[in-house]
Amino acid sequence: MSEGERLTELAKRRGFYFPSSSAYGGAAGFWTYGPQGAALKSNIEDAWRDRYVVKEGHQEISAPDIMPEPVFEASGHLDGFDDMIVECGECGATHRADHLVEDNTDIEEAESLPNEEVMDLIADHGIECPSCHTSLADQPVDNFNLMFETNIGPGSSSPGYLRPETAQGIFVEFPQLSEYARNQLPFGVAQIGKAYRNEISPRKSLVRVREFTQAELEHFIDPEEDEPPLAEVEDVTLPLYSAAAQESEDGGMQELTVREAVDQGIVESEWVAYYLGVSTEWYERVGVDMDRFRYRQHLAGERAHYASDCWDAESEVDGDWIEITGFAYRGDYDLSKHAEHSGEDYTVFKQYDEPITVERATVDPDMSYLGPEFGGDAGAVADALEALAERNPDAFDDDEVTVEVDGESHTVPVEETNFSVDEVTENGEHIRPHVVEPSFGVGRIIYTVLAHAYETDEVDGEERTYLDLPPEQAPTTVGVFPLMDKDGMAELASDIADDLRAAGLSVTYDDSGAIGRRYRRQDEVGTPYCVTIDYESLEDGEVTVRERDTTEQKRLPIDGLADRLERLATGDLTFDDL
Ligand code: GAP
Repeated sequence: MSEGERLTELAKRRGFYFPSSSAYGGAAGFWTYGPQGAALKSNIEDAWRDRYVVKEGHQEISAPDIMPEPVFEASGHLDGFDDMIVECGECGATHRADHLVEDNTDIEEAESLPNEEVMDLIADHGIECPSCHTSLADQPVDNFNLMFETNIGPGSSSPGYLRPETAQGIFVEFPQLSEYARNQLPFGVAQIGKAYRNEISPRKSLVRVREFTQAELEHFIDPEEDEPPLAEVEDVTLPLYSAAAQESEDGGMQELTVREAVDQGIVESEWVAYYLGVSTEWYERVGVDMDRFRYRQHLAGERAHYASDCWDAESEVDGDWIEITGFAYRGDYDLSKHAEHSGEDYTVFKQYDEPITVERATVDPDMSYLGPEFGGDAGAVADALEALAERNPDAFDDDEVTVEVDGESHTVPVEETNFSVDEVTENGEHIRPHVVEPSFGVGRIIYTVLAHAYETDEVDGEERTYLDLPPEQAPTTVGVFPLMDKDGMAELASDIADDLRAAGLSVTYDDSGAIGRRYRRQDEVGTPYCVTIDYESLEDGEVTVRERDTTEQKRLPIDGLADRLERLATGDLTFDDL
């Protein structure tokens, strides 16, 4: 069994996640998180919130999942959010063409290749339909838009889409969000929520699904002035696989500190480097095995339509690298597009330290001249003159000035434009912030954390499976077991479980089956500590506390138990300290 298969088996058996709607045959790419999975997911989201919202001092919002069509016309998703699809001429199954190439050749990133080249590669390598094994040579490779479309309200006059990234819910609301941040850059807005993509071939359980949770941060900065607090993470070591290394024959991964990566120009943006540093520590915190982890820079052809530079955090499972987070420098792409399409103001006013005096060229065209001369174009000619005066005042040096409107040249005597250059005092300027975006896929992080936590060893001559999840992430912190349901042991165990819950610990009470089997159940869901109440407990007020990874056991007084377990879970105490 592969690592992924045994994980999926454990996930279903123990209630981490399983395919949705299976009573009706299911639908590929949709998974339900069971009790263990939902608890793990919410622990990971809380850890994300703690690091990227609370510790960074950012704000969190919650926007709708469905947004109207103009949002995605502006964002570019309607035109450009496509994957390459190839349809089998024999059985009609559809497949992601670039993935077929990656699976059947040495090419790692076929997504960055043009469609025609992918079509040629399919033919040259004799790639067959995975469903019916008919050759896919000569089948066209087309673009397929990944957004789920719906109608808002009855009828079809108001199309909407399920958001393919949570980010757009932040960008669209920038004017309000900027006000809440008192129009002071830099500021960050985060969101944890669902995103939807009609993936051509969902695969590897949580890795490629059609509905998933993203945790995204959009950090709005003044690119001229704002600098990240790089010193806070400058010594963190980053495993980097740059675009140059991917393209060179002998290139491999480099281990550089955040400071070295910036100084050597490997990571161009200090902001991106800052978040790579912050995130390296965060992945470790939530249980990613950092020996199976890297940051890979996007190749030029692979970058999303909005990104000028992008690094992916990738984890290794089953020998494959999985993108778990994208770190993109989105520049002012999104805010410019929404400004252009909506006509709203997507800038912030940047106040100067001192007012400055500048020369400003203006026009005040004589409409009684432009009207008869240019008819319906007169207004557009006036606008073009105004824009030209701002852009190139020297154009008004001669007797006549020429502007273009809809591809047609219009010449106007300069005296009819009332051109003048005046000194004006300015207190500031409107600037369009740039955006730095760490975008996490929560499901892929859960998959990675579980795969990396999966351990086997031998206990009492039997193979044991356990998840060595960090206590902060484990769905349950403490399992509480009465040795037997008699002579008051169950009552005492139940009281202890209540006390531990009241102290804020996550507790599972289990009184069924042999004690060894109860330990195994908790081991398999990653519960770091178990407490057993036996006959002696009734006499001496002590219980047995067992640690998951070592299976070591210690007797501890019930008095003060909650405090000790809490300190163990937060790392304030080690089991040896007890
Ligand atoms: N706002 C930027 C953005 O959405 P992305 O690289 O397309 O960037 C970010 O997605 C993250 O979302 C990925 O790194 C991945 O973890 C997750 N993700 C994307 N598509 C996914 C899918 N079909 N199934 C599961 N997770 C996905």
